[in-house]
Amino acid sequence: MNPVPGPLALRARSCTTGYRTRARDLARLEPQRAEVAYIIGGLYGNLEALDAIEELAARETAAGGPAPLLCFNGDFHWFDASPEWFAEIQRRVLVHRPCLGNVEMELADPQPGAGCGCNYPRSVPEDTVSRSDAIMARLQRLVHDHSLDVSVLRPLPRQLRVEVGPLRVGVVHGDPDNIAGWGLELAAMPPPGSLSATLETWFDEADVDVLASSHTCRCFAQAFPGSRAVFNNGAAGMPNFTGDHRIVITRIARRPPTLPAGSEVLYARDFGSITVSALALPWDRETFLRRFDRVWPAGSPAAQSYRQRIRRGPPHIREEAKRLAPSADQRILAKAAAISRR
Ligand SMILES: [Fe+2]
Repeated sequence: MNPVPGPLALRARSCTTGYRTRARDLARLEPQRAEVAYIIGGLYGNLEALDAIEELAARETAAGGPAPLLCFNGDFHWFDASPEWFAEIQRRVLVHRPCLGNVEMELADPQPGAGCGCNYPRSVPEDTVSRSDAIMARLQRLVHDHSLDVSVLRPLPRQLRVEVGPLRVGVVHGDPDNIAGWGLELAAMPPPGSLSATLETWFDEADVDVLASSHTCRCFAQAFPGSRAVFNNGAAGMPNFTGDHRIVITRIARRPPTLPAGSEVLYARDFGSITVSALALPWDRETFLRRFDRVWPAGSPAAQSYRQRIRRGPPHIREEAKRLAPSADQRILAKAAAISRR
């Protein structure tokens, strides 16, 4: 899921028609109204990250605030390749507001030739694509061998519309045109201070102020002319920055968050009375790694693709993710780009 140069592979790059969505469908959805909303993309089966998110929600409520609406915008399954682990993720996520990611699509309704359904761009190396296909194949075997009920995933929505006060948010997994689209990846963004024709069409047709996504595993937020923004939370189930083990979620609310120790608002944007924030949360990584290592030992596809990221974080820095000023500091962006290429 980390875009780096490499040759074309076939399976997980396939983009099937079953994944197609439309921005204008977001305008027709019944809005989920809330005082506080969390957008939680890419939990990847991480129970310890889910503990941290639920503890934050409980803390907000205990402090006298409204109960947050938890929106899981896809890929809440991934590393949870044991029957008990998979069932617990499903049980704890489905009581909230989930929508489909490519992982849930391929579990509930496998698309011919889709592999993991990631729809990787050509820049992702073939061995990365193959390992993701192998992870998905193992999850599909698990579901089959243990008769796990994935029929409950099939009717989940493909998109969500969330409204917090006057702020309208279109929640997708990939981009408004495709569950596994890469159109809300950092590399697809126009220069700070400008708005691409594609983004303008998406905002107009979806009739939203903010688009919230994940899928690409690289978090950032960028503001655009006309008081619009994209918030991609990266991963709620893995570290997001070099040397920083915290997960990231997007929080939308009138009130500032009541944060536990070690948490932080990485960057935020005010839309009148509503603030959209990228929140970094600490979580119990050591307990997760013991669980991960039992299911994905050294040499397994998940260990090869993700263990180093879970230990050290990806090659990404906060300065590159924070693109909310009218014109970002080009020196910082150049430095960030150089670090990302390492
Ligand atoms: Fe995804």
